[in-house]
Amino acid sequence: MSRTAQQWMETPALPGSDYVDSQIYTDPHIFEEEQKLLKRATWKLACHESEIPELYDYRTLDHAGFSIIVTRSGDGNIRAFINACSHRSATILSEPAGNAKQWMCPFHNWTYDTEGNCTSITLPEGYEEAGVCKEKAGLREVRNGMKFGLVFINLDDDAPSFDEFFGDAFETLEDVMGAEPLEVFHHHKAMMNANWKTWHETNMEFYHEFLHYVNRNIAMSHKSYFERRLKLYPYGHGTVPPMQQTYERAGLKERTDKPLPGMSPSEFRIALLYPDTCILVRTTAIRIDTTTPISPNLTLVEQRGFGIKGEPEDVRNVRVRDHNQFWGPFGRNFPEDGNAVEIVEKNLRNGAAPYGIFARHEDLKCMDDALIRTFYDEWGKYMGRPAHNPTNVTL
Ligand code: FES
Ligand SMILES: [Fe+2]
Repeated sequence: MSRTAQQWMETPALPGSDYVDSQIYTDPHIFEEEQKLLKRATWKLACHESEIPELYDYRTLDHAGFSIIVTRSGDGNIRAFINACSHRSATILSEPAGNAKQWMCPFHNWTYDTEGNCTSITLPEGYEEAGVCKEKAGLREVRNGMKFGLVFINLDDDAPSFDEFFGDAFETLEDVMGAEPLEVFHHHKAMMNANWKTWHETNMEFYHEFLHYVNRNIAMSHKSYFERRLKLYPYGHGTVPPMQQTYERAGLKERTDKPLPGMSPSEFRIALLYPDTCILVRTTAIRIDTTTPISPNLTLVEQRGFGIKGEPEDVRNVRVRDHNQFWGPFGRNFPEDGNAVEIVEKNLRNGAAPYGIFARHEDLKCMDDALIRTFYDEWGKYMGRPAHNPTNVTL
C-alpha cells in the first residue's frame, strides 16, 4: 500500500539505531559540526610514504577545513603541519606535491624548514620591540601515525593515540600489507554529488552487491558468501573474513598469477577504518579509498592502488591490469557505486525522503547492517546527538 504525505514523514517504528534522519546528509550546520567534532578528532589517511619517497618531498591535502602539509623532513622522519603561515595565516604551499628544503610564505616571505621551524622573518628588526622572533614562530605540527606505510594524521592533540584508535583493526591485512614495503601505482580523484557518508556506506554494506554485475557473478554465487560474519572493533572499525571469488563466472581470468604475500588465488579481503577509509585486497592488487567532504552534497573520493615496492615490471603489469579491471575510473565497481550514491543524494537534497533504514539484523552475517550501525553509534558520540534525531543535541 502506498503512503500519504503524513505517513511518509512519520518517524519509523524502529529502534533509533536502525535508522538515520536524512538531515545528517544534507544540513549545512551538521556538516560544519562534523568537520569540527568528528573529522578533526579522528585519524585521517593523508597519503602513503611511497608518495613522498625522497628527503624534502611533500604533499598537501585539505582535511576538515584545513590545508595540511605532509613531508619527509631532512632527518628522514615524516611530519605533518597545518599549511598556514605563523605571521598572518597565508597558505604557504599551493602545489599538491613537490620537493623543497625551505618553504617560503608568498605573502611577506617568512621561511620555514621541513621540521616546522621558522628559519627567517623578513626585516626582523621591526619586531624586536614587540618580542616577535623566528624562535617563537614555528608551524603548527599535526600528529601523525603510520601503518603499512600509510600515513594518518589527527588534528586533535587530545584524541586517542594512533595505536589505541586502530587497535587490531588492521589484523586481517598484516600478512599481506606488512610483509614488504608497498608502493602507490595508481591515484585518482573523483567528485561525487553525494554526502561523504553515503559514499562510505557503500563500503560498509554488502546488501547492494546485487547492483554490481561482476560481483554478483564472481562472489555471490558462493554459498559461503552469505555466511561470512562481520567483525567489529572499538572506535567503529570493521573487517570482513577473507572469501574466495570465481572470476571465470564473469568471463574474467582467475587470479592465480602473482598473488600478494599471504594471499591465496582469487582471495578477497576487506578492512574498514573509521570514519572513511576502506582497504580492499583482491589477490594481486590493493585498493584504498578515502574521502574529503566538500559540502553536504559534494565529496572528493580518492582511490589509490598499491603493489610491492621495486617489483619487476611484469609483476607490476599484472597488478595494474587486475586493479583497473575492478577499481580504476573505468573499472566496474567505481561507476556503479558512484551512480548509486548520486541517485540517493538527488532525493535527499530537497527533502524528498526523511529517513534511511539500516535495520538488517543477521547475527553479523555479511548482509547485516551492523557495520553501519556501529559507524553511526560512533558518529553520535563525536557529534553529541543521535543520527536518528540529529536536532536533539546533547553536547
Ligand atoms: S602571511 Fe606569511 S609572511 Fe606574512
Ligand atoms: Fe559497491
